[in-house]
Amino acid sequence: MANDYIVKDISLADFGRKELDIAETEMPGLMALREEYGDTKPLAGARIVGSLHMTIQTAVLIETLVYLGADVRWASCNIFSTQDHAAAAIAAGGTPVFAIKGQSLEEHWDYLDKSFMFPDGPNLILDDGGDATLYILLGARVENGETDLIEVPTSEEEVAVFAQIKKRMKESPGWFTKMRGQIKGVSEETTTGVHRLYDLVKQGQLPFPAINVNDSVTKSKFDNKYGCKESLVDGIRRATDTMMAGKVAVVMGYGDVGKGSAASLAGAGARVKVTEVDPICALQAAMDGFEVVLLEDVVDTADIFITTTGNKDVIRIEHMREMKDMAIVGNIGHFDNEIQVASLKNHKWTNIKEQVDMIEMPSGNRLILLSEGRLLNLGNATGHPSFVMSASFTNQVLAQIELWVRGNEYKNDVYILPKHLDEKVARLHLKRIGVKLSQLDPEQAAYIGVSPDGPFKPEHYRY
Ligand code: NAI
Repeated sequence: MANDYIVKDISLADFGRKELDIAETEMPGLMALREEYGDTKPLAGARIVGSLHMTIQTAVLIETLVYLGADVRWASCNIFSTQDHAAAAIAAGGTPVFAIKGQSLEEHWDYLDKSFMFPDGPNLILDDGGDATLYILLGARVENGETDLIEVPTSEEEVAVFAQIKKRMKESPGWFTKMRGQIKGVSEETTTGVHRLYDLVKQGQLPFPAINVNDSVTKSKFDNKYGCKESLVDGIRRATDTMMAGKVAVVMGYGDVGKGSAASLAGAGARVKVTEVDPICALQAAMDGFEVVLLEDVVDTADIFITTTGNKDVIRIEHMREMKDMAIVGNIGHFDNEIQVASLKNHKWTNIKEQVDMIEMPSGNRLILLSEGRLLNLGNATGHPSFVMSASFTNQVLAQIELWVRGNEYKNDVYILPKHLDEKVARLHLKRIGVKLSQLDPEQAAYIGVSPDGPFKPEHYRY
């Protein structure tokens, strides 16, 4: 099909290709999989719909899936996260992609819908945050009269997804149910999407197996942590150019993303405070040297506020009313409901530049809001660096192969990749950074009860 894509500007493809070539040198895991599986094409016959930030790193993932034999169609999972030159390079290479940085919510769901439009429909989903999975499962439930949720949208997001579901139902009756029946499995990238999957299992609503990529150790303990350590401050700097050293920053949540975010700000010289609800994470934050506080106690003195919780209503309107003039407010969690942005809509907004707004509060104090509360490392900067995304995406490719080749052996439940594959992903990234691994001798291996070649830890080990 001619021009089976929607990108901002296809002439950006050359620039995209140059950055892709560079990214490949930093993504040894993906390149090793191309070498290992290139001849056997284990994904031949797979038709993968991808819903994941359309960045340069994702472009290397897409080209790896295609190299391994898959047909792929792609949309971004966030309205601000696309890198237009990456999307252009993928489109120019012949893979249909529907993604523009700054697309509307309506376009978000329309583009996702378009990414499902293989002539025979897809048979696998690669998801980030769960929107592609939600689209099919919610649509099928509506189609079969199993929910009337669609009649009472409670947010702009829901209005947009429900409108798109209605449109597709009108154009292609029975389509969602057909898709629900033919999808063989989903691999899910992030914490928030994984929560949704476990909820679906609890409700008896997951109709195919799912692989939780997020909880591979080589994903969440690296991307969520070391990725945010690099990309959080990158986003704040590109958005504001503010001096970080000496400022007081509050990080809400001290899970993997919070740990990386606090380290990012501390590394830049900010004085970091943390809020937590979980006593274990609160204790970790304290013992890492951060003061653990209540937001209410620091809201009128801190300079920078970052949510990392994957929870909703963490920064509320009453907090924002107390903040000092020119406080910076942003979120690095998956969805924009961590900050009550909707409650700011009737205030005066001045757009400073793309994804940076100044909002005047009733007191006259102004707030700088990043990416309208959407994940700022991808909205205001270019997300995590390639090297750490290589570890995440190597897990993704292994998960897609597993679902395609052995999906029938799995129940409709959520699975984590086995530890030997997790260790393999790590192993593939050692040489690039000059890591020399020691080798257990047989006596030592027997003494600690492992095989000399791994796995080196029991399942319950927490890293
Ligand atoms: P996590 O579950 O490890 O950490 C979240 C932490 O927030 C937990 O420790 C929890 O106790 C805490 N929390 C929950 N509600 C809170 C509240 N009201 N106040 C203070 N703390 C609260 O999750 P993880 O892996 O750190 O992910 C967090 C979010 O970031 C998710 O939405 C995830 O999808 C997203 N994510 C974003 C990335 C990015 O590049 N922007 C990368 C990876 C994940």
